Amino acid sequence: MIAFDIRFYDSLGSTQDEARRLAQAGARHGTVVTALEQTAGRGRLGRYWASPAGNVYLSVVLRLELPRVVELGFVAALAVADTVDAYLPGRATLKWPNDVLVDGGKISGILIEHVDAAAIIGIGLNVLHVPERTPYPVTSLGALHAAAEVDAARELLLDALARRLDAWRSEGFARVRADWLRRAHPSGTRLHVTSPDRDIEGHFVGLADDGALLLDAAGGVRRLLVGDVSVRVG
Ligand code: BTN
Repeated sequence: MIAFDIRFYDSLGSTQDEARRLAQAGARHGTVVTALEQTAGRGRLGRYWASPAGNVYLSVVLRLELPRVVELGFVAALAVADTVDAYLPGRATLKWPNDVLVDGGKISGILIEHVDAAAIIGIGLNVLHVPERTPYPVTSLGALHAAAEVDAARELLLDALARRLDAWRSEGFARVRADWLRRAHPSGTRLHVTSPDRDIEGHFVGLADDGALLLDAAGGVRRLLVGDVSVRVG
């Protein structure tokens, strides 16, 4: 099991940047950077990630021998769902690629970046604070009446991540994929995908072996590797 080396900070621009700096300086596999607040938190697709004190913000340096780092996002999403389960059993659902939702509100964000041979996995988990003016519905453990606090949630999240990384290493992506699909939008769900070059609508068919979203759209089944997904009702 991975042993984390945790570096605590009161405030950082972004835990991703500090983790990147440490990785470039040779930080070992399992180095964790966590801050009580971030002043320049980053989200996927160049978005801002609001990061006042009250939520979990952490970045983990991973030096993986596994070639398919894209799989890591699914591993992390499952670890977040496990963490949410500790407070709100069975309530977390997963949305491609790495979103964790409760009652349709996004409760966590996952960002994967690379520096040299290391992967930096950044996770934000809304514990007490619900971000405002987001382009999608959001929630937090506190808003859902879970008696959660930041230090305990961070500890649970890192424990869950260690267990999920271990299962991924020993059992491979097939196990991750199966666990992810069990908690994701069911097959046939109508999805709208906004990707950098186009928007596409279709029905969810599954997850490819490499983590690509399989969408049954006009013209047949498409494989999508990048995008933002919203679930359409009806
Ligand atoms: C998303 O857009 O859904 C991903 C958000 C990722 C936020 C986390 S918080 C910890 C780490 N530091 C950052 O600046 N971003 C990630």
